[in-house]
Amino acid sequence: MSTVSLALDPADPRPLYRQLCDLLAEAIGRGELLPGARLLSERDLAAQLGLSRTTIVNGYRELEARGLVRGHIGRGTFICAPSAPDEVPPAWRGKIALAAQRTSDPALHALVRQPGAETISFAPGSAALDLFPLEHFRALTDAVLRRDPAALALGPTEGQPALRRALAARYRVRPEEVLVLAGAQQGIDLLARCLIDPGDAVVLDRPGYLGAIQTFRGAGARIVGWSVEDGALDELEDAILRYRPKFLYTNPTFQNPTGRTLATELRRDLLELAARYRLPIIEDATYQELGFADPPPPPLRELDRHGLVIGINTFSKTLAPGLRLGWLIAPAAVIQQLALIKARADVFSPGLTQLVVAELLAGRRYDEHLRQLRGEHARRQGAMLDALRRDLPSGALVTTAHRGGLYLWCRLGGEANARELLTAAAAAGVLFVPGEAFYPDDGGKHELRLCFSGTPPERIAEGVRRLGSLLAAGPAIRQTQALGRQPII
Ligand SMILES: Cc1ncc(COP(=O)(O)O)c(C=O)c1O
Repeated sequence: MSTVSLALDPADPRPLYRQLCDLLAEAIGRGELLPGARLLSERDLAAQLGLSRTTIVNGYRELEARGLVRGHIGRGTFICAPSAPDEVPPAWRGKIALAAQRTSDPALHALVRQPGAETISFAPGSAALDLFPLEHFRALTDAVLRRDPAALALGPTEGQPALRRALAARYRVRPEEVLVLAGAQQGIDLLARCLIDPGDAVVLDRPGYLGAIQTFRGAGARIVGWSVEDGALDELEDAILRYRPKFLYTNPTFQNPTGRTLATELRRDLLELAARYRLPIIEDATYQELGFADPPPPPLRELDRHGLVIGINTFSKTLAPGLRLGWLIAPAAVIQQLALIKARADVFSPGLTQLVVAELLAGRRYDEHLRQLRGEHARRQGAMLDALRRDLPSGALVTTAHRGGLYLWCRLGGEANARELLTAAAAAGVLFVPGEAFYPDDGGKHELRLCFSGTPPERIAEGVRRLGSLLAAGPAIRQTQALGRQPII
């Protein structure tokens, strides 16, 4: 319970016992308090928070009324196992392992569901899929199927040798340092399985990629947020000294969700700091190749002189997420270990797709496609900014343009709550991701993420019009015009 933040707000109109109950309920929902865990005694918590014992008793009673805890006289108050839904057959009830129960947040799962055709969704992080080089991909698939018996055979868990070689050549490493993945998310999961023991601390961008937050939390890690907004290295050093983290996970280029990019100097300082404390870095470079015009600063992995950085990447944003193809770059011994773990759940990533993508990388078409994609994404970011400027009331939302990536990170004016706005927006046929999903704590209530790249400009305009009508009561959008400025973290 010591890791749960119980910051009660005297300005909050809810009674204190209600705030306490809500905070604990949220911590249970996020899996920070697990079934069977004992809450602090009423007396101890009252002393710790400087509140009356009655407030704590009432808070615990309210939690009990919601079925989240059970009090046992003389023993204390314990977190209950969630009740199984009626459709679970009786023999399966109560059988879910504790580790699996930590994976209870459906946010990521919900994000990948397709909305109806009428709905305009700025929620999933999707590139301009309509630019996918379909004919070329089809021709390569035919050629590979005709020519290469490996296309339909089982192959090594590390990946098709042809794709490992192609990736190694492109990123100037050795093929043994490349592991082919079923998407970047698999890399995050494999590293969690490989590195995290329950109770280990890991440092993550705050706000940061929700798939990483959920996966590391699911592995039992204690998540320590590092403020991406400031890129403050002293804050990171404090966290290292205080929590002794296993590693830092960061997404330093066109970050998800903020779109920010760590400047080269800051990258060097970060590597220096990590080297001093021997802190491994997992660099999620998913957006590295999606700068609109000029290339962004080099990836941390390329600047690293101490062998600290493991790089994760994917074709999900540069080709298509449906290919489920990503890769990881690490020292060969680490690749071996990760391949053994991968083999337990996923013996071999689809061989045909690997061979076709290897062919694509060997020719010029992939880089041509990237050029087109970057241009179209820049156009779509412009279309979304124009629409926000035109159709949102003054002060309703503040955002910053970036030179790459897929996202606008927005702050709502007038303390508007993003989750409440989403409920109204879904009914009006437009979706986004509320900021809360990207915080390992209770931040992000007034923020939201809009993905501009996956929607053609006319639909962007219509979606923003729908948002504008909902926000019509608030003041006008103020945009920080950062297009001509070096993006900062
Ligand atoms: C930073 C980051 N990492 C990983 C992923 C997952 O990518 P994949 O589809 O390759 O699993 C995403 C997807 O949005 C992402 O933004």
